[in-house]
Amino acid sequence: MVKALNFKRHRRLRSSSAMRSLVSENHLRMDDFIYPLFIVEGENIKNEVSSMPGVFQISLDFVKDEMEELRSLGIKAVMMFGVPNEKDEQGTGAFIETGIVQEATRRIKKEVPEMLVVADTCLCEYTSHGHCGVIHNQDVDNDESLKLLAKTAVSQAEAGADIIAPSNMMDGFVIVIRQALDEAGYTNIPIMSYAVKYSSAFYGPFRDAADSTPQFGDRKSYQMDPANRLEALREAESDVEEGADFLIVKPALSYLDIVRDVKNTVNTPVVAYNVSGEYAMVKAAAKNGWVDERELVLEKMTAMKRAGADLIISYFAKDVAKWLNE
Ligand code: PBG
Repeated sequence: MVKALNFKRHRRLRSSSAMRSLVSENHLRMDDFIYPLFIVEGENIKNEVSSMPGVFQISLDFVKDEMEELRSLGIKAVMMFGVPNEKDEQGTGAFIETGIVQEATRRIKKEVPEMLVVADTCLCEYTSHGHCGVIHNQDVDNDESLKLLAKTAVSQAEAGADIIAPSNMMDGFVIVIRQALDEAGYTNIPIMSYAVKYSSAFYGPFRDAADSTPQFGDRKSYQMDPANRLEALREAESDVEEGADFLIVKPALSYLDIVRDVKNTVNTPVVAYNVSGEYAMVKAAAKNGWVDERELVLEKMTAMKRAGADLIISYFAKDVAKWLNE
């Protein structure tokens, strides 16, 4: 007999596909995905975003077909972004009853009532300057912006949004929106806060899709510095104290350490936002034949789960659904 050596045989649990699935620690399921949608004003519009192949800006008349496709794929939640024709200093299009997101939300709730509508609550797609709040002295005024963001959240809830997702990074946005929703009778509408949102170059393609590039300066006075980790925990803790029901960490892939830190710190569901730049990079490499897109994407999604994401917002949700159903 060979003398017993003192090492562990880890390969025993990797010996076959059945064995590997038996011991797999993380799983992807479509219930955990949220698919972002860009709704434009006008009719008969279905524009592919040039930096995001496979992602389209659609007009209201395409919403029904889109919902049917998503339903058939098993996608149960959408994140709504609006691309209005008119912009102004205040971002009025974000909070009027006839705003593009409000119209689209009503349409979705009429066509497919069980689809969960998550409304992104921000002003940047609606302001002429492209910032996420109101500008005073070349800077975004926190407390003035809060009033408009609260109005936006209430008008989204009035239109039928199931979840309010403030992404503007003003201080106090969760408590101010919570109070406004409660006063308007929407005590049961949860807040999915973009609690930890870094100032990131990975948002580039989104700004093409949503036409929301700042016209001057950048977002560094309100979005977080990528160098910081403890600051993320301060943001997460204050949002939980203010009443957030879910916390988003964004971007996802370069910040998986932060996803794990937040998951270990709070007891709300944690959401990873797999952002536009992360999508565009994979699509570009895949188009060149440099990577195996399916394997790469499924690996990345699993990595987000392993890091502690309960939910994933991703432009890949449709692709993942197809791959999982194969
Ligand atoms: C709005 C908002 C942004 C994203 C989601 N909500 C852009 C930004 O903050 O510049 C980015 C999403 C993505 O890149 O996929 N504030």
